[in-house]
Amino acid sequence: MDWPEPPKCDVAPATVSEYLDPHYWDRRFAQEEHYEWFKDYSHFRHLILQHIKPSTSVLEVGCGNSQLCEELYKDEITELTCIDLSSVAVDQARAATRHGKISSYYYLELFMTYYYYF
Ligand SMILES: C[S@@+](CC[C@H](N)C(=O)[O-])C[C@H]1O[C@@H](n2cnc3c(N)ncnc32)[C@H](O)[C@@H]1O
Repeated sequence: MDWPEPPKCDVAPATVSEYLDPHYWDRRFAQEEHYEWFKDYSHFRHLILQHIKPSTSVLEVGCGNSQLCEELYKDEITELTCIDLSSVAVDQARAATRHGKISSYYYLELFMTYYYYF
């Protein structure tokens, strides 16, 4: 089986519980420009596109610095909202979309269980 590259050691947490700490993610995203925790979109595109169409609203929870939303957008899935608790990840993603071609989807700095307020 072909597994993704493990995270670089200098961004790995000292303990598993650090994954619960928003500061851990901020520190990590300040050092790590891009990382896909699963495989990149090309590996499961055919599975996703069976279930959604351009009018589907998609919420990506814990988007990090994944390029999933950008890839979906290229496939004309444009009703996209990406949330993450890391302000660093969200700021970077917003900056990337401002300077890039994509401007009509949203990155929000949110804790996933608070999303119902919106
Ligand atoms: C394992 S990474 C996955 C990132 C991305 N989805 C990917 O596949 O590459 C988990 C992400 O979830 C975010 N996260 C963790 N807990 C969260 C929460 N309660 N609300 C929103 N985002 C959260 C982290 O900041 C991190 O970006």
